Amino acid sequence: MNVAVSAKVNPDLQTVTAVTHWTDRLFSFRVTRPQSLRFRSGEFVMIGLEGDNGKPILRAYSIASPAWDEELEFYSIKVPDGPLTSKLQNVQVGEQIILRPKPVGTLVHDALKPGKRLWFLATGTGFAPFASLLREPETWEKYDRVVMMHTCREAGELEYGRKLVEDLSSDPLIGELVDGKLHYYPTTTRDESQYKGRITDNLVNGQVFADLGLEGPLLPERDRAMVCGSLAFNKDVAAVLDGFGLEEGSNSAPGDYVIEKAFVGDGI
Ligand code: FAD
Ligand code: A2P
Repeated sequence: MNVAVSAKVNPDLQTVTAVTHWTDRLFSFRVTRPQSLRFRSGEFVMIGLEGDNGKPILRAYSIASPAWDEELEFYSIKVPDGPLTSKLQNVQVGEQIILRPKPVGTLVHDALKPGKRLWFLATGTGFAPFASLLREPETWEKYDRVVMMHTCREAGELEYGRKLVEDLSSDPLIGELVDGKLHYYPTTTRDESQYKGRITDNLVNGQVFADLGLEGPLLPERDRAMVCGSLAFNKDVAAVLDGFGLEEGSNSAPGDYVIEKAFVGDGI
């Protein structure tokens, strides 16, 4: 299937350089980076394809690659009847996508006050901004410890994140910075795997601290967090973090934690 779009209709075209399918619901791909695009690791942009009527179908996507990378990476869901992803899932190397080079977002270091321990809390494709931030040197320079909690229903859905985390230690740019600082906690809620349970439960019942040998609980004077998942997840995690005394921040008023939606749910 040809999903390429014509340069005449859209000037913001980038060429796909790699595609990896992780499960029947998840894939990642890389595209060329516009020379003019500057972004902070953790931000998102609008990307898309030309629709059948010639109008672009654009959706928000976290940039999964770090700010220093020559290319851009994205990690995507495949929604069977989704206007964009029903087509985007068929994209091939050499084809083009639309990319609007206006990055925005709150999952950025500037939106957090200084701290010692940084928690990345993600469900599903909410891992994408952390794929960027885990490869960002500033993450490792600013914090003594970084805890990556990623939860999915099934084990296969954790693979993109698992591979990325595994590859960090051999990364020529940040491998040494990461050494001994990263605590990875992948959990499933409907499949058997090493660690189980929802992020909210594992934070409240202390399981994550026990499993990783970390000091609990979360403290405003020590811990910072970035959160990315469904609206329900974000709401429940915010309540947990508030309960530990952490305060939400933003680009204009840095705080102890920041939140971004991983997607806009049905009817919301
Ligand atoms: P849509 O009509 O957009 O969505 C149809 C339905 O599918 C939604 O109502 C929802 O129930 C479900 N859905 C959509 N996206 C997801 C998802 N990611 N995970 C689970 N269910 C979903 N999507 C990504 O895959 N990767 C990203 O990095 C990403 N970053 C985003 C950042 C922001 C700030 C926002 C608001 C959304 C982001 N999304 C991301 C979601 C994305 O914008 C689209 O919704 C998604 O690509 C599906 O597009 P679609 O046109 O096929 O279906
Ligand atoms: P669960 O299987 O217990 O619902 P989804 O695919 O529905 O977006 O969920 C992705 C992951 O996030 C699942 O492991 C799911 O756990 C978990 N999850 C969904 N909603 C919440 C929530 N409100 N709080 C904590 N975890 C959640």
